[in-house]
Amino acid sequence: MTDLLYWLQGAVPETPAPKVEMPPWGETKVVGKPVPRVDAYERVSGSAVYPLDFALPDMLHAAILRSPHAHAVVKSIDTSAAEKMPGVRAVITGKTPGTDIPWYRSRGKSYSKLFDDRVRHEGDEVAAVAAETRAQAYDALKAIRVTYEELPFVLDPQKALEAGAPAIHEGTNRYGDPSKYERGDVAAGFAAADAVVEGTYSTACEIHAPMEVHGSVVKWDGNRLTVWDTTQGVFVVQQQVAAALKLPLANVRVIGHYMGGGFGSKLEAGKYTVIAALLAKMTARPVKLFLSREEVFLNAGNRPANTMKVKIGAKKDGTLTAIEFLSMGSGGAYPNGADTSFLAADLYTCPNVKTLDENVAINAGRARAMRAPGFPQGAWALEQAMDELAKKLGMDPVELRLKNVPKVSQRRGNQPYTSTGLAECLRDGAKEFGWAEAKKKAKGDGAVKRGVGVASGLWGYGGGPPATVVVKLFADGSVNLNSGAADIGTGTKTIMAQVVAEELGVPLDRIQIEHADTGTTQYTGPSGGSKTVPSDMPAVRAAAVEVREKLLKAAAEEMKLPVDDLALSNGEVVSKQDPSKKLLVTAVPGLQRQQVLVGVGTRGPNVEGKVISMFAAHFAEVEVNTKTGEVTVTRLLAAQDSARVMNRLTFECQVQGGLVMGLGLGRTEERVLDRNTGKMCNVNWHDYKIPTALDVPAEQKVHSVDLVDTECNTAGAKGVGEPATIPTAAAIANAVHDAVGIRVHDSPVTPPRLVALLAGRGKKG
Ligand code: MOS
Repeated sequence: MTDLLYWLQGAVPETPAPKVEMPPWGETKVVGKPVPRVDAYERVSGSAVYPLDFALPDMLHAAILRSPHAHAVVKSIDTSAAEKMPGVRAVITGKTPGTDIPWYRSRGKSYSKLFDDRVRHEGDEVAAVAAETRAQAYDALKAIRVTYEELPFVLDPQKALEAGAPAIHEGTNRYGDPSKYERGDVAAGFAAADAVVEGTYSTACEIHAPMEVHGSVVKWDGNRLTVWDTTQGVFVVQQQVAAALKLPLANVRVIGHYMGGGFGSKLEAGKYTVIAALLAKMTARPVKLFLSREEVFLNAGNRPANTMKVKIGAKKDGTLTAIEFLSMGSGGAYPNGADTSFLAADLYTCPNVKTLDENVAINAGRARAMRAPGFPQGAWALEQAMDELAKKLGMDPVELRLKNVPKVSQRRGNQPYTSTGLAECLRDGAKEFGWAEAKKKAKGDGAVKRGVGVASGLWGYGGGPPATVVVKLFADGSVNLNSGAADIGTGTKTIMAQVVAEELGVPLDRIQIEHADTGTTQYTGPSGGSKTVPSDMPAVRAAAVEVREKLLKAAAEEMKLPVDDLALSNGEVVSKQDPSKKLLVTAVPGLQRQQVLVGVGTRGPNVEGKVISMFAAHFAEVEVNTKTGEVTVTRLLAAQDSARVMNRLTFECQVQGGLVMGLGLGRTEERVLDRNTGKMCNVNWHDYKIPTALDVPAEQKVHSVDLVDTECNTAGAKGVGEPATIPTAAAIANAVHDAVGIRVHDSPVTPPRLVALLAGRGKKG
């Protein structure tokens, strides 16, 4: 319903955030340590209740009828047989009163409705059923008779722009004008270059495949709706569902305690939630509506395919003189972001840059934000081109990158970064990987050749307001933390507990967390954009500090000591001057009188005139079987600059997962559409290949360069989820080139593709 990344850029309801001053942490006791997850037992034992597990008494089960065609007009729908099927309690279509709800909004325009009479991709919603059991609901779908008038379809963005191409929406197939950026004089830059490389690269479309499929359980109490949703942001779902159903925000309560992964596909409300709410209203029963895995493949979003033309010029010493980057992608049948050019304009120092991003409609499932949307694709092209350039200049690829490390964000008005760790990532990463030694090693004289590659990346958003957190210290010294943030599997709750423990000197097991419930917890944006730590932890810290200040003030009165002589440690208030003077926290009269001390923390604004970015350099070693085209990734190393590491364990988990997703982009993942029917061919786990344990390299290392950044925010941490997956695929492709001298321009590097290239067929670089 909303534009990709809208909230990353501060387009969330703009609240003036009060400035929060807080000194940087010195030596920390809990923050930064490899603390196991506070909810680890619940997660691994299966006792955690995810929305997919959730059940209410008297609940109905709903299912959605979806278009089998890539492009068609729905001429008529006959639901009479379905309505008579066993267990069926309600059937809705676009004709049912109350379903005329606009959907897929972009730039003030709606591109569809809840049930449109025009379907624009396989999987578009046509009707829905609520029945006593899930099987009855799916059976009833088969009894709905739909007459479609099939329309010509187009699957290729390039072809969608040709004259006479099927029009997917009114007017042009372009989603807005191409976005253009230019600085300096690119022609002069190329003229001044000693070496120029040029090439066209493409990435395949990757499907969202979180462990927990998308869906909700909904229940009405009068005109108040409660939604249990698997989501990255309960407040986003609240806003969108309330708008769709024309309800006050306060009447929509969204709860999302546990959720089984989202990676960007759960940053907005799904049609399924609103459809479930309508069915629940019609039947006066709670309704559960979860998509099947096949429906997720067709309808829950993807990282769009991109074609990128890149040209780079440099002086003999490696100084970049010009970059041109032209990208073509598709938001799918409905608008969403498909731009990839940001890295080309910001990752390296270069005075002359020109970029262009085209976003075009096609008759295929819609794109959704996917872990660093646009950036892994951009890195695939830019970082392979940089590798080509290094070869042409006779320079080491690490040296070429080091030569052009940026000091300011050129893409954002030459503002300085709060910290820039790209050089450290490249240097430390190369050292720990054994880059120099690996480069010298023989490639192997049998059919299997060895190679190594490097690529770098940055992620450009550092979080921000609004976020509010409440911390309560109870009379027995236990603590309750209240935040609206979702823990999307990254360890958010654990890090929140660490921050509170750090400030209040209480053990982690004395801290309980209430989170992700619009009815009972405090507002924050969705967990995404690698911004949960940088957006929410400063608010957590501010709330805990307020409680500490109240407690120390009360203790100072009792102990007759100045407040600034007092510190909190292990459940005691202790004098810094004379550690023999101490008072149990639970014995502080001010706490006992009130029974609870409350702190409210808000996220202050980001530093003005500076840019917050995370940096990364990834190193890969591969073995290529020149007979079969098989690529085995034997080693990966990620060197990351996220400033402070809040928790070594969760940090490492994030980066390990990022590397595996990068492996998927580079090696295995590809949505295949049938050019004759427009339908997805590999709509199952078997044929759509996400990496499994057997694909993960035997050695996968994580290195943090641990920069001190006192400006990014009051937690000192920049975030890590997305930068951890940006350069991986490009590093693997560069390693393949190092091994066999073949440039694989198109992802993924599959055996058939590589065998063709090795045999001299197909596109070569
Ligand atoms: Mo991420 S794509 O911001 O969840």
